[in-house]
Amino acid sequence: MSSAYWCVIPAAGSGARFGGDMPKQYVEVAGRSILLHTLDALLSHPRVKGAMVALSNDDAYWPAALTRLHGKPVLTCAGGVSRAASVSNALAALPVEVGQGDIVLVHDAARPNLAHGDLDALFDALAAHPQGAILAAPVRDTLKRANDEGDIAATEPREKLWRAFTPQAFPRGLLAKALGDAATAGAQVTDEAMAMERIGIRARLVEGREDNFKITTPADLARFEFMVARR
Ligand code: CTP
Ligand code: MG
Repeated sequence: MSSAYWCVIPAAGSGARFGGDMPKQYVEVAGRSILLHTLDALLSHPRVKGAMVALSNDDAYWPAALTRLHGKPVLTCAGGVSRAASVSNALAALPVEVGQGDIVLVHDAARPNLAHGDLDALFDALAAHPQGAILAAPVRDTLKRANDEGDIAATEPREKLWRAFTPQAFPRGLLAKALGDAATAGAQVTDEAMAMERIGIRARLVEGREDNFKITTPADLARFEFMVARR
């Protein structure tokens, strides 16, 4: 039998760049919050077992009645001051049935347009790359480096440059250690793979769909509304 995975969902951000009165993960599209779209995208997959959602301490919007989705457990824990701290807390809060060597998927609450095909591709890659794997996409635009005045200083080669998406999949214990080490060193890690790189672990890049985008600004929300309307 192929294995099934627990997910960790950092959802404790305030959405400063998005703006508005409530955190962006609670903005509704087609009658459901962004966060619920994200949870549904994950838990509707047969190889996802459950989710641990990291919430802000002053979160006033989480629906307390939501304890199961697609018959699978949805648990919550307190988030932290950074995305990495929220992920660390959620890893620690996972049930004991999740072994330290078990692979866990970390997926942004603000990335609701995840397709099952991308999860399948990630799971296939993990079979050959048990050290870890992430969804990502190659850089398509020409890259310019700016000087201090904001003029072009150089054109950078884009070969072998990728944009890191989520889910990012790593063994529970090793990821917790990598995030702990980064925190102790005061290193700001912006994704799980970066924390793993610091301890010498090279995740596999799995090319995913371009439309697995993160909602950062209102323009991204309009794009997601369009995607949902088209489904
Ligand atoms: N996140 C978190 N804990 C934090 C900060 C962020 O769990 N202390 C989560 C967000 O809720 C989001 C994901 O990490 O699902 C990706 O972060 P980002 O898109 O940067 O969201 P925000 O931090 O909320 O937005 P901003 O940076 O614009 O404030
Ligand atoms: Mg942020």
